[in-house]
Amino acid sequence: MVMTLDDTSRSAIATQLSDMRSLQQLLIFNDQCLINLVNDDEIRQRLLKMLEDDQKNLGILETVIVQSGIESKPKSSVQQQLQELQAQMQEPKLSVFEKVFQHELLKHRQTMTGLTIHKAAQLVGADIEAAIVPLHTVNFENRAHQEQLKGILEILGVRELTGQEPDQGLWARVEDAIAALTGVAGSVITRTDDEMSIRDLLLMDHTKADILFAEILATDDPEKIQECFVQLYKDVSIHGLAEEQIVYHAASPYYRAMPDIVEQTDEAIDMLDEVRSLDVRDPDFKAKVKQVRQAVRDHINQEEKDIFPILKHNFSPEQQKQMATDFKAAKSKLQAHEQLPYLLQQTSDRNHHQWEAGSMNDATNNAMNNAMAWKRMFRVKAVINWIEAIVFLFADSWIRNALNTVPLMNPEYNQLFYGFVIVIGIGYWWVGRDISQNHDIVRLGIIGQSSVFAILAYHTLLGKLHPFYLLSGVIDLTFAILFIVFLSTYHDRDKTAQFQGNEFDRESSARY
Ligand SMILES: [Fe+2]
Ligand SMILES: [Fe+2]
Repeated sequence: MVMTLDDTSRSAIATQLSDMRSLQQLLIFNDQCLINLVNDDEIRQRLLKMLEDDQKNLGILETVIVQSGIESKPKSSVQQQLQELQAQMQEPKLSVFEKVFQHELLKHRQTMTGLTIHKAAQLVGADIEAAIVPLHTVNFENRAHQEQLKGILEILGVRELTGQEPDQGLWARVEDAIAALTGVAGSVITRTDDEMSIRDLLLMDHTKADILFAEILATDDPEKIQECFVQLYKDVSIHGLAEEQIVYHAASPYYRAMPDIVEQTDEAIDMLDEVRSLDVRDPDFKAKVKQVRQAVRDHINQEEKDIFPILKHNFSPEQQKQMATDFKAAKSKLQAHEQLPYLLQQTSDRNHHQWEAGSMNDATNNAMNNAMAWKRMFRVKAVINWIEAIVFLFADSWIRNALNTVPLMNPEYNQLFYGFVIVIGIGYWWVGRDISQNHDIVRLGIIGQSSVFAILAYHTLLGKLHPFYLLSGVIDLTFAILFIVFLSTYHDRDKTAQFQGNEFDRESSARY
């Protein structure tokens, strides 16, 4: 029996999540309408904050949809209903109170849908439960918003009925209610979408794969095994492909063993293909699954040990967040693709070719060599600084004797200067550890080293200094020039990377 890739009971949850995404878009639209309608400053501030939360939560919902691994569309009946509700929000005959009332009902619906999905996921499987963890934030914030909307309704309602202000302690009561909610839900609050870096997303996927393997091996129910295996097959393949496109592509200049990592991904997908051709009742099925689990675990271990530190040390937090966004987009595009197995074959062949050590494209190869060379350069200069400082600190009188020059009058100045040279060397070492950062130290180095050369050259020209001392000035000037070249090529490399990213995107969209 060949497994199809779409028979899964998880699609009901996926549809609910899509409904939530549509409803979230309507909530944002409502927030914007209401902000324009109310004249009360305090209420407007609260609505603005809610709008901010709602926009962020839309991002979280999109992450959850991608992580659940099942692309689905919202129900057409729900779409139609939401369109009608959107029209009501623009209806001039309705009062602001009535519109807020409508909005509060929608918030209630969103909260209850979120909580229901959470409960359902507990029954469907631990993997889905893990994928929807960030949904807790959305649910909690929606509950808090409901409390605030109740307060707003009370104020607007009392004003509309009596023309007077409601009692003063209202907002305090609302805050109390929210604080009580925090007590209940505080422990389930998770990281927001904003704080999620590429490493968080990769880890979520790795954990989900572990859980799916465990679920398959723990049950004897063929239906459950089939359902989990289909999910695992899709998750691992899509994760692997998206990872190659986004993460490996970016990290390759910093990692020589990247072709091995890519090879492992392809092997894991091939192994999964082999298992997919077996019947779940086949006596060999679980033994084969265990083999795949081991291969996938070994690969994940190497990735988390080697690639994660590269991401952490060579990319700024903003770049890592951007990578997370690109990774989600790549996964979502792959999930939407109907002919996944065919696509896997095509992409795997292409990747084999692209990543083979000998045939890795020139740009990638050059970038890798350049990054290594620049790191080495900063470290070499750090070591030169330290050696030079130690020599001139401890062998000063010996050198002066050998050169037949007069002894130093104030050795403490000499010591202060070379102490400073050691400190600057530490700065260069830091740059060499992570060439994406500390570029101001590089700029400082350019100014410092050029100054050293200028001062030494001046005194040599006047005949006050033995030409031997100019040697260190020439070394400094050479490195000052190299530092300038580094800063300009690094800047260009950023632009090239952006350009290659765009090219890549065009190529992928043409293929998909
Ligand atoms: Fe991975
Ligand atoms: Fe991987």
